[in-house]
Amino acid sequence: MNITMIGVGYVGLVTGTCFAELGHYVTCVDINAHKIAALNMGDIPIYEPGLADLVQKGVSEGRLSFTTDIRDAVSDAEVIFIAVGTPSSRRGDGYADLSYVYAAAGDIAKYIEDYVVIVNKSTVPVGTARQVKRIIDQKCNISADFDVVSNPEFLREGAAIEDFMRPDRIVIGTESERALQIMRDVYEPLYLRDAPIVKTTLETAELTKYAANAFLATKISFINEMANICEAVGADVLSLARAVGMDGRIGPKFLHPGPGYGGSCFPKDTVALLATAQEYGVPLRIVSATVEANNAQKARMIKKIRDAVGGEIAGKTFGILGLTFKPNTDDVRESPALTIIPALLEKGANIRAHDPKGVEEARRLLPSEVLYVNNAYAVAENSHCIILMTEWTQYRALDMRRLRDAMHTNPVFVDLRNVYRKNKMQKNGFVYIGNGQY
Ligand code: NAD
Ligand code: UGA
Repeated sequence: MNITMIGVGYVGLVTGTCFAELGHYVTCVDINAHKIAALNMGDIPIYEPGLADLVQKGVSEGRLSFTTDIRDAVSDAEVIFIAVGTPSSRRGDGYADLSYVYAAAGDIAKYIEDYVVIVNKSTVPVGTARQVKRIIDQKCNISADFDVVSNPEFLREGAAIEDFMRPDRIVIGTESERALQIMRDVYEPLYLRDAPIVKTTLETAELTKYAANAFLATKISFINEMANICEAVGADVLSLARAVGMDGRIGPKFLHPGPGYGGSCFPKDTVALLATAQEYGVPLRIVSATVEANNAQKARMIKKIRDAVGGEIAGKTFGILGLTFKPNTDDVRESPALTIIPALLEKGANIRAHDPKGVEEARRLLPSEVLYVNNAYAVAENSHCIILMTEWTQYRALDMRRLRDAMHTNPVFVDLRNVYRKNKMQKNGFVYIGNGQY
């Protein structure tokens, strides 16, 4: 099938490339000319494991192309996906900024000719699909025949290709049997691998995406608060999470305590869901508490670090391991590092930081005083305290003697992801502070 993907970001580039891998002909279009030029030169603008090889394959086999020309991209498409950003609005009221989605809808309206299915893949509040339909109806010159579908995306950064290729489910919200059949054809190669399709209304599909993210965020805030009470009462959150997660009704995933969830989705999607709930006068107390607990968790990490170094941050050097919001991505959006590092700098700290993939973006988002170094051992040089912020694989088996010898006397290791074990770290001469361990 001929598919057009509007928006070549973390979702559009991955899903467009994967559709090409499945055998479809995919044109990816973006308003960012630098991005498209880079892709046409063979450079991949984001870091996502396995993506570069698939892009190269799709392009060389003639099923994947990149353009800024929306007219060209839209005119002979059978299915058009909208995968543009939906960040929090600049007004600060939590609502998703839908201007990119509506601009894409306006562009589509100008150039569609024959029947086409327009699929919203961006995460959008209830009512957006109907608004997209209205925009296209109003702006279309001819009385074009089209259907609008809501098909939210559930992939995770860092595991995006695997998530796309082996989805837990594919949600298709539509009122049209014709569009449903075309969507089934689009996903048929996955369907044959037993990926279940859940057919819903437009509204249910849109809300399902927010519900899934809010539930996962709630699980994280829950275990973070359990970690905090573990510390207070002298219990161990690692054993607790293991035992609790063994209950099949609860499950072991998303029970890892950390410095608070970050990324481009949970933070914005939880507050957007609350904005919708407020608009409709429906209290969502649990989601509200999840957001509050996450903000408190980030603040709590700053206190934890201060206590770990004896209450005085000024003049001390902190070595930061990891800046991205999770491993295996270069994405720093809403990373806990963006809250914790500026707070430490404000209190007079010196910061040495490393990240395998996130430094370029971090330079744009963090104060200029941060010193970026090339590896974990350079982070340790003359540091009083190391903070393990993101659990990248390369931080999981560090040579602790080498690290310790590079640091000040009485080295402190604050492990916000519980990668290491206290006994071993103490034997290696560290003051070790885990997250939810006693
Ligand atoms: P992103 O910011 O990485 O990419 C968005 C892209 O859209 C940018 O390249 C931008 O230039 C382009 N764009 C904006 N307006 C355009 C227009 N009118 N025409 C063409 N291109 C345009 O965003 P993302 O992380 O890929 O997220 C996209 C959507 O998918 C969001 O709604 C997000 O919530 C949702 N989502 C994201 C993830 C994720 O892991 N990042 C997972 C599931 C769902
Ligand atoms: C998340 C969801 O997992 C995807 O299903 C969804 O499609 C996506 O949001 C989205 O809507 O964009 P992502 O943000 O890429 O994916 O990453 P996650 O693995 O969910 O991690 C999110 C945050 O939670 C990270 O900061 C991570 O460190 C944190 N986390 C996750 C924990 O602190 N503990 C956990 O147990 C799991």
